Amino acid sequence: MTDVITKSQRLVHPSLHTLEAQDLLAVGAMAARCSRETIYHRFHGFIDLPTYLASLLTTDQTTIVAWSQGCCVGFASLAGGPQGHEVAVLVEDRWQRHGVGSALIEGVVEVARQRHLSLLHADVLHEDAFSLRILGRYGRLEVALDYGCYSVVVHLEENPAPTDHSDGRANGAINGRASGAMAELSSHVWSN
Ligand SMILES: CC(C)(COP(=O)(O)OP(=O)(O)OC[C@H]1O[C@@H](n2cnc3c(N)ncnc32)[C@H](O)[C@@H]1OP(=O)(O)O)[C@@H](O)C(=O)NCCC(=O)NCCS
Repeated sequence: MTDVITKSQRLVHPSLHTLEAQDLLAVGAMAARCSRETIYHRFHGFIDLPTYLASLLTTDQTTIVAWSQGCCVGFASLAGGPQGHEVAVLVEDRWQRHGVGSALIEGVVEVARQRHLSLLHADVLHEDAFSLRILGRYGRLEVALDYGCYSVVVHLEENPAPTDHSDGRANGAINGRASGAMAELSSHVWSN
C-alpha cells in the first residue's frame, strides 16, 4: 500500500537562532552529513568547509541556524557581497522538503527588515529555479540568467500585501509554522 503523507504532516517546526560559537560543532557535523550534491547546490562548487564555517563568526555576516529535535538541520546566511546583501540557505538532505528552508528564508528576511534593507540578492542554480518562487513571496524579483545561474534581486516589500495561498501563507508575512521560531529569533537579533 502506498504511504500517503500530506503536506502538513510533513512540515517540521524548526527553532531558529543566530549562530553562536557553541553552535559551530553541530553546524559542522550537519554540513558533514550533507551529500556532495547539497553542498554543490549551496556553494556552486566545493569549498573547504571547516575554513568556511570558522569564518561565519569572524566575518561581518549573520547566520541563522535551524534546529529540530535538538539537532542542527540547516542554516542560512545574510552576508555583504559584491551585489549587495546576499542570502544563501542550506538544509541537510534528510530534512529537505519539510519546510526548514522556507522557515530559514523567512528568518533572513525578518533580519533584513529589522535592518531596514530593501534589497536582497541570491545566486540560484538553474535547476533550483523553484527557489525563485520562495523568494518571490517577499517582493518583486529582478532575475537574470547567466551561465546556468540565476542572479536574483528581491525588492523587499515593507508591508507585504496578504495573498490568498491555499496553505494560509501571506505574501511575505510570518506564517504559523515559523512565527514561534521567529519570536525566539527576534530576541537574538535585537540583542546583537
Ligand atoms: C533549496 C533548499 C534550501 C530548500 O529547503 P527545503 O527545506 O527543502 O525547502 P522547503 O521544504 O521549505 O520547501 C520550500 C518550497 O520549495 C519546494 N522545493 C523544495 N525542494 C525542491 C526541489 N528539489 N524541487 C522542487 N521544489 C522544491 C517545496 O515544494 C516548497 O514549495 P511550496 O512552498 O510551494 O510548497 C534545500 O533543498 C537545500 O538546502 N538545497 C541544497 C542547497 C541549495 O540549493 N541552496 C539554495 C541556494 S543558496
